Amino acid sequence: MSKDKRSEPFGIYIHWPFCEAKCPYCDFNSHVRHKPVDQARFVAAYQRELEHMAGATSHLQVSSVFFGGGTPSLMEPSTVGAILTHIHTLWSVEPDCEITLEANPSSVETKRFAGYAKAGVNRVSLGVQSLKNADLKALGRLHSVEEALKAIAIAKEHFERVSIDLIYARAHQLLDEWDKELQQALDLKCDHYSLYQLTIEPETPFEKLYQLGKLPMPDDEKAADFYQLTQEKMMFHGLPGYEISNHARQGQESRHNLLYWRYGLYAGVGAGAQGRLPQSQGRIATRTYYNPEQWLTHVEQHNHGIQEQENIDYSAMADEMLLMGLRLREGLCVKRFEAVTGYSLDQSVLKDLYQENLILSPDNDRIIVSAKGRFVMNAIVTELARCYI
Ligand SMILES: C[S@@+](CC[C@H](N)C(=O)[O-])C[C@H]1O[C@@H](n2cnc3c(N)ncnc32)[C@H](O)[C@@H]1O
Ligand code: SF4
Repeated sequence: MSKDKRSEPFGIYIHWPFCEAKCPYCDFNSHVRHKPVDQARFVAAYQRELEHMAGATSHLQVSSVFFGGGTPSLMEPSTVGAILTHIHTLWSVEPDCEITLEANPSSVETKRFAGYAKAGVNRVSLGVQSLKNADLKALGRLHSVEEALKAIAIAKEHFERVSIDLIYARAHQLLDEWDKELQQALDLKCDHYSLYQLTIEPETPFEKLYQLGKLPMPDDEKAADFYQLTQEKMMFHGLPGYEISNHARQGQESRHNLLYWRYGLYAGVGAGAQGRLPQSQGRIATRTYYNPEQWLTHVEQHNHGIQEQENIDYSAMADEMLLMGLRLREGLCVKRFEAVTGYSLDQSVLKDLYQENLILSPDNDRIIVSAKGRFVMNAIVTELARCYI
């Protein structure tokens, strides 16, 4: 393989936009259909859109593929297999390419795990959300704790890498309850945990409940306590946060998510997917039609489902790169920032941020946000973005 291809990681995101039921807290692009989805028709559309995306990117080598949703574990293994085979015909794929699939941990779905592994998936991300049955019910989840535990065990039999998602700082949750629940999760000995604080998203049933005062959420101070406890406990157990909500043993970080946060190139395929594609001056941002059927029809008529396509100039790229890179524990690589965007960061602003204890060092190769800085991340980004040179 040429050095050139290896030097630029490239990811492919595939969005499966369907779920069994809509969780009341979720505002992801996920839809419930009461008739079976025509998977063969969707496969053909994914293949056509992949061909379109390969136009600008076939010189790159694929380093990660991520099936996200919605609920990709509702895809037939043959659907996943056909998409992966097509990716191999369009791009050169790294031999150790990370191929992740998000799965809901219900018993129906675990039956498909062997098929996904056979199709080439080597990492699964399980949406466990809580290890308490009453809380799963309150979150509108369709699975039980017992099913989730079985799903983790089955996933470990089939995949090299298993990650679990949990939601914390939930309504009514006490700090010491979360401490115990997190310990139970750690006892499951996974190598990667995505731990999200419950966010009240606009226009969700949870937002309505919250506005009616029926969802007592922790205030900012309590939420900060939840976050601190989570960080310290995970660090103590050898799973430091490599991003605000993501924890891994060394070497087990999600390569695909790192690619986003390090501001790499990726194609977004499927309804509502976003991409960042290369072009000679800056990048192209793509976003496909949000509605699954509209996306499908558009692909069938035009070979792609892109609804919005925008050139991102170097200044907008610098904003995006800062926003993403500062989320990482490793911080933003200054050399890469300069190479990708052509801009430098103002040293006097960096010094001020350092003096206020918001970043760890004023003149390092990397800009790393401090623990204090994490609480005012947006203000740090705004301050740095005002002064590109
Ligand atoms: C798009 S979901 C896909 C995974 C899968 N469908 C599931 O629900 O298990 C990805 C993750 O986002 C998290 N998530 C979604 N909505 C959230 C919210 N309002 N607050 C916190 N986390 C949320 C959940 O942990 C979920 O596992
Ligand atoms: S949280 Fe997952 S299962 Fe629930 S609606 Fe969102 S994408 Fe679907």
